[in-house]
This record gives sequence, C-alpha cells and structure tokens, in this order.
Amino acid sequence: MKIGIIGAGRIGGLIGTLWAKAGHEVLFSSRHPESLTGLVQAAGETASLGTPDQAIAFGEVILLSTPFGYLPEFGRTKREALGQKIVLETGNPNIARDGAMAEAVIQSGQGTGIYLRQWLSGVRVVRAFNTVWDPILAKEAHRAEPRVGIPLASDDEEALRIASQLVIDAGFDPVIVGALDQARRFDMGTPVYDTGMSGPEVRQALNL
Ligand SMILES: NC(=O)c1ccc[n+]([C@@H]2O[C@H](COP(=O)([O-])OP(=O)(O)OC[C@H]3O[C@@H](n4cnc5c(N)ncnc54)[C@H](OP(=O)(O)O)[C@@H]3O)[C@@H](O)[C@H]2O)c1
Repeated sequence: MKIGIIGAGRIGGLIGTLWAKAGHEVLFSSRHPESLTGLVQAAGETASLGTPDQAIAFGEVILLSTPFGYLPEFGRTKREALGQKIVLETGNPNIARDGAMAEAVIQSGQGTGIYLRQWLSGVRVVRAFNTVWDPILAKEAHRAEPRVGIPLASDDEEALRIASQLVIDAGFDPVIVGALDQARRFDMGTPVYDTGMSGPEVRQALNL
C-alpha cells in the first residue's frame, strides 16, 4: 500500500519505518524534507521523502502525526486534496504545547473524536496509535503474542478494516473500539492510556 506520513517525528517516523520494513511504499514528509534523509535511508528501499503535499498526493493512506493544535488548520487547508484517502490520526491534546484549544477539548469531556468530526469533516479519519509511548512501540513491535493493543475509532468501516491491517503490519494488535465519538474511551487519562497493555487487556479494560 502507498502511505504518506505527515509529521515524521517520534511516532510518524517509527510507524512509517515499521510499515516500510513490512513492504509498504512510504513517503515520509516534512516542512523541511532534507531533515529526513537519515530516517528515509534507514527505512529502506520502499521509503522516500517529500513535502506534506507530496505525501497527500502519494498516499492511499495518510498517517497524520503532528501536534494536536495543527488539526483544525490541516482540515481547513488539506480536506479537498485528501478526497477519499484515509487518514490515521495520532494526536493528543496537550495544553502546554497546543494551548487553549487543547484545554477546551479536554474540559469538554467529549473526547477527541467528535472534534475530528468537525475539523476534518468529510475526511475518512481513524483515531489510531495515540495511546502508547513511542519507546514502547519501538521495543515491542512484532513481539510474540499477545501483542501491544492499538485502539482504533472511526465512522468509516472500510477505513477501520484498512487501519486494522496496517496495525498488524506494524507489529501490533488492532482493537476496534467504535465510531469516532468512542475515541473518548482511549483518550489521555483513560485506564488504557499510556499503559502498554496488550490487545486482550485493552479489550477487557474497555469491555469489548
Ligand atoms: N511520542 C509519543 O510517544 C506519542 C504517543 C502517542 C501519541 N502522540 C501524539 O502524536 C503526535 C505526534 O507526536 P510525536 O511525539 O511524534 O511528535 P514529534 O516528534 O514532535 O513530531 C511531530 C511532527 O509534526 C510536525 N509538526 C510540528 N509542528 C507542526 C505544525 N505546526 N504544523 C505541521 N506539522 C508540524 C513536525 O514535522 P516537520 O517539522 O518535519 O514538518 C514533527 O516532526 C502528537 O500529537 C502527540 O501528542 C505521541
């Protein structure tokens, strides 16, 4: 599958590399693409680099892994170019980094998913890879079962199926939690957040 990475930092760089090693074609992007030369070389022959717009043009699936505060602007400026492409979004609201918008999301108690419905309306978005600290993902990818659980939420059934396969390809256990509004069940501060739980443990904790 062709995958574009927007925000090739700790999470985007790692998950993109796991996908490239699994044989996917991965275009890592940056606002400063030259900064990704080492990452792309290490990711292997199926990896390439470019700008965020090139990542959108390239990918059937986009992994969006930027500060949460960028999401409203991303929706406004990229919605049209995204068309029917699937977007896996990893962000967590962080008041110190993202300011008042993150505070509003957290204080609403409604979870991140309903905000994604507004900001990325019309986009086939999946909440994914937001619960596990990147060093744990790096260390535990492809371990023997039970694998680390990755909760997923989306309003789009086909996008959930594709995201589930990509979670497996990266070396983890996909846990479909439900529609986007169910993302609140695995946002920051929930019992499954930042625990490194296995898939079966996540399912049990969320009564799935
Ligand atoms: N690290 C973790 O363990 C972890 C775990 C789960 C979820 N998350 C969440 O996932 C997201 C990414 O986390 P991370 O730790 O990978 O962050 P990171 O290492 O700081 O990488 C974020 C990337 O986003 C891009 N970026 C930064 N500011 C931007 C802006 N204003 N507009 C567009 N792009 C921008 C940067 O790419 P360029 O400067 O190259 O363009 C950067 O490489 C965050 O929302 C975080 O809360 C992180």
